[in-house]
Amino acid sequence: MSNKLSLSGFDSVLVHAEHAKDPNYSHLTPIYASSTFVYDDAEQGMRRFSGEEKGYIYSRWGNPNFTEVERKLAAMESFGINNPDGNPLELEALLHASGMAAITTLLVMNLKAGDKVLTHYSLYGGTEEILRNVLPAFNITPVIVDLRDIKQAQEALERDPSIRMLYLETPANPTIQCVDIELLSKLAKQYNCIVACDNTFATPYLQQPFRYNVDFVVHSTTKFLNGHGTAIGGVLLGKDIEKMRSKAYTLRKTLGGNSNPFDAFLLINGMKTLGLRMERHCSNAQEVAKFLNSHPAVAKVNYNGLPDHPDHAVAMRQMKYPGAMMSFELKKGFQGGVDFMNRLQMCTRTVSLGTCDTLLCHPASMTHFSVPKEAREKYGITDGLIRMSVGIENLEDILADLDQSLA
Ligand SMILES: Cc1ncc(COP(=O)(O)O)c(C=O)c1O
Repeated sequence: MSNKLSLSGFDSVLVHAEHAKDPNYSHLTPIYASSTFVYDDAEQGMRRFSGEEKGYIYSRWGNPNFTEVERKLAAMESFGINNPDGNPLELEALLHASGMAAITTLLVMNLKAGDKVLTHYSLYGGTEEILRNVLPAFNITPVIVDLRDIKQAQEALERDPSIRMLYLETPANPTIQCVDIELLSKLAKQYNCIVACDNTFATPYLQQPFRYNVDFVVHSTTKFLNGHGTAIGGVLLGKDIEKMRSKAYTLRKTLGGNSNPFDAFLLINGMKTLGLRMERHCSNAQEVAKFLNSHPAVAKVNYNGLPDHPDHAVAMRQMKYPGAMMSFELKKGFQGGVDFMNRLQMCTRTVSLGTCDTLLCHPASMTHFSVPKEAREKYGITDGLIRMSVGIENLEDILADLDQSLA
């Protein structure tokens, strides 16, 4: 795209932003399947290594396919946001091998021994594991409260000056709970805390945490951003450009959490349809939730789009739509969950989320099979709970498959 025309719409950004014209006039950026990059002469090599000349050196350090993804994601997360001085917000993004690799860079770059991370009790399992089981070996520990209650957050911050980071994930995996980004970010800033937000479930199409003065955003790009279930990936975005280019970049480079050209290529192309997909994902989800809510086999539906959901107001305040993730409880418990999963014909039995097809999983017999019942029930993961990522198929077909499986 010519750099002269500024794009006024988010979908145009998704399709065109930061695509560099290819020297061979290839329509799409080719897959730069090259581990290393060459120099015309030794002096050019010297200029590249000294930083005097910009250019790629080695694909663990950077690659043209990563660059296109990173710049596009920065354009998406900052779209329409201005700094307090009125200038457009600038972000730096770093593509990683997975969401967990991006989260690891985020935590390691900002925390040192003795520091604590304040977070919500409902979090993606991998994030919880790194906070509870990995970082404590380095004397970095979590403080876990119910962040939907601002008083609990304030008390924790007041009590413990070693809390250096507020880590949010909203909507949260797997409970779909939402926390108030604006309120919590404002509070954390009063205590000089860094604020980070996992925006995987919402994507920047539905929610832009940088609007609320957070410092970092992470994504598992594996999900809605890629959209087709073709690659694992993650991204870390930050507004402290200098820190991102020094500390974050060095960590990705030295920990080796880089992506690869093929996965980056898939992501570039997947992201082009994010807007169209999210519209359909979300409109289908709203109807599916209504259908489940009135189905006699279903005891309860957890979907932020339903007005009686406890986080409905927060979700609607900070999200364009409440998203495409939900869970529901079957009256027939564990065996009801197993039977339901076995009857599915069109919808897909699997973990993960955010692909074009509707994905369902039964945590009690799958992801949380080895977690003791009392432990998982504390997190709302009951015997009959089903988690669903609503796809973009025709609504009638999703409803028909659910209906015959609930019978
Ligand atoms: C909210 C959230 N954050 C992070 C991750 C980790 O991402 P990845 O599997 O790409 O490492 C996941 C994975 O499911 C997730 O749901």
